[in-house]
Amino acid sequence: MLERIHARMNIIQVNYLQPAFESLSCHQTLYRMLIRLRLFRWSTYRLIILSSFIWILVGFSVLVYYMDCLGSSGINCVGGKQRKLFQLSSSSANNPNNVNFNYNGLEESIENDLSNLNSDNLIVNENANSLLLPFKSNQLRKWKSPVLATNPSSWPGEKGKPVNIPKEEESLKNEKFKLNQFNLLASDRIALNRSLPDVRMDSCKKKRYPSELPTTSIVIVFHNEAWSTLLRTVHSIIRTSPRTLLEEIILVDDASDGEHLGKKLEDYVVTLPVPVHVLRTGNRSGLIRARLLGASHVKGQVITFLDAHCECSKGWLEPLLARIREDRTRVVCPIIDVISDDNFEYIPASDMTWGGFNWRLNFRWYRVPQREIDRRNGDRSEPVRTPTMAGGLFSIDRDYFEYLGKYDEGMEIWGGENLELSFRIWMCGGTLEIATCSHVGHVFRKSTPYTFPGGTTKIVNHNNARLADVWLDEWKDFYYAINPAAKKVNKGDTKGRKELREKLKCKSFRWYLENVYPESQMPLDYYSLGEIRNVAINHCLDTFGRKSGENAAMSQCHGMGGNQVFAYTKRKQIMSDDNCLDASSKKEPIKMIRCHGLGGNQMWEYHPKEQTIVHVNTGLCLDKADPSKDSTLPQLKECDGRKSQRWIMSSNFEWQATDHNNANNETNDKHEASANESA
Ligand SMILES: *[C@@H]1O[C@H](CO)[C@@H](O)[C@H](O)[C@H]1NC(C)=O
Ligand SMILES: *[C@@H]1O[C@H](CO)[C@@H](O)[C@H](O)[C@H]1NC(C)=O
Ligand SMILES: *[C@@H]1O[C@H](CO)[C@@H](O)[C@H](O)[C@H]1NC(C)=O
Repeated sequence: MLERIHARMNIIQVNYLQPAFESLSCHQTLYRMLIRLRLFRWSTYRLIILSSFIWILVGFSVLVYYMDCLGSSGINCVGGKQRKLFQLSSSSANNPNNVNFNYNGLEESIENDLSNLNSDNLIVNENANSLLLPFKSNQLRKWKSPVLATNPSSWPGEKGKPVNIPKEEESLKNEKFKLNQFNLLASDRIALNRSLPDVRMDSCKKKRYPSELPTTSIVIVFHNEAWSTLLRTVHSIIRTSPRTLLEEIILVDDASDGEHLGKKLEDYVVTLPVPVHVLRTGNRSGLIRARLLGASHVKGQVITFLDAHCECSKGWLEPLLARIREDRTRVVCPIIDVISDDNFEYIPASDMTWGGFNWRLNFRWYRVPQREIDRRNGDRSEPVRTPTMAGGLFSIDRDYFEYLGKYDEGMEIWGGENLELSFRIWMCGGTLEIATCSHVGHVFRKSTPYTFPGGTTKIVNHNNARLADVWLDEWKDFYYAINPAAKKVNKGDTKGRKELREKLKCKSFRWYLENVYPESQMPLDYYSLGEIRNVAINHCLDTFGRKSGENAAMSQCHGMGGNQVFAYTKRKQIMSDDNCLDASSKKEPIKMIRCHGLGGNQMWEYHPKEQTIVHVNTGLCLDKADPSKDSTLPQLKECDGRKSQRWIMSSNFEWQATDHNNANNETNDKHEASANESA
């Protein structure tokens, strides 16, 4: 760390000494010229002596002005100002939140050095930092934002506008929709280099980035992609990226059979102004292995993975590369805007969502919590530290990708690899961010047009079981409880990945939940995970697999997990996946609603001795269904100690999630729980 700071000091000194040397040599030359002149025109001898004397004086005072910066009180010169700021920032480097500089008028490179020092990641990851030195100057390039041309606004889809297909072409549209699960007819009518609106927030447009950034190679995997969407992706990259930073685009064809993706594609890409390479996997090998193939060929410093149906918008690349330039252990995603699958309208996405996951280990978007907004002092243009990423679109330093163990090659085709990489980044000392100033559009499809050998569910279960086995520690119970089928899949050998976790000295999943994702749907602390059985009748609480907002239910206990698995958490929620048991009054049916973590209607107290589940807000007891009405709907009743108000939580109220290295005192936690009984 010290070395990094020293290296930066040198850069700053060189920077502010340079103008002084330049002006010095400039004045010397002038002086010599004047002397030579003097030899030829004796008549103007006096005049020239006088004026050259003035020039010497000017030169000398300029020299003194800059020399002043070397002293300790050089406040009036640019260099002095810069160093003062530098000293300030290095003394507060450990506390980035109370540093609030005004960078106006400073050199961009200095700006970068300062923000670099402010980065708290300097402390986070000593492991990777010893392997990953800051970029050398020959790894960085100067760049200029490209000037974006426009097309006639009458062209279909320009400025991201929707393309509506007239009624008479409806059947053709539907037919073509089936090929890729998006409106291909609309896509084919839009120019490959259509213009997009500048959807960035104002504070992003004003942001300045370091004058030198690392180069990037873009890796895009495709399988039977449509011509217009694939090439629009390529054109939008070329159109919007600073040319010097774009090393190449690597298209990896994962065994497509469409003719247009063969020689026609190769012939087309050689005409483009940026090197575009087409690699082919030969046999169908899936996203993960195809990406690895692409990554093994990159020449740029940073690998940027994109999907094959994207459109990059103005200024998307600079924020990603700037974050990595400051710290190579950052992995950075853009905001993923929506390109409508129906009419290709460009719809900006919110900067207030981040990535999470549910018990089934599906990636999900959730609202950015207040905690993260506060950490950024409310500045929405500052990157969000996201717990997980969607996985399709992100930039990562090439050496860091290698260091971190790339992807799990034991995973098949697709699914789970994004969460696996997300957990690995955080737990092994990196940072995962969404750069809210970077926008890339993506065609979201409602279903995948592709078939996977072996079926999607089986492959995703295989991948997720590997991920749970290697990274989730005790919390893998949640995955297997809600998805019991995954217990039976053959997850293959995970020894190598566990060794990697060991080698990189990665932290525990408990650390991740405590420090990165306290809002996780997998609760940090919980008392019970399993069925909740009614004592009077052999029925259990059941979600029936319904969506958020629908009624909670009861049915015959089957002991198979899945829809009958609930967690009773320390925050007194009764959770199934990301939904919580929620009641508002005696009359309303009890529902399963997205957990909000704020208590209220979702707060329940379990009293292990009486075996009652009391709804805190109303003081009523959870009771079995009324058979005269709907026999599947549990209800709230006045607490009267009757048998049907007694429930057994399968795990017998044992403290489940204990960190073996840092053993929690189980007895204490039990006491805390029973203290609520008397309350
Ligand atoms: C699209 O390409 C054409 C032909 O090269 C060019 O004239 C036009 O300015 C480009 N449009 C945009 C929006 O970049
Ligand atoms: C593709 O698979 C076939 C049969 O499994 C094998 O013989 C062939 O070598 C593979 N080709 C490539 C390029 O991997
Ligand atoms: C846990 O707490 C109980 C009571 O508070 C105490 O008697 C016991 O020694 C503690 N156990 C450990 C391992 O700290």
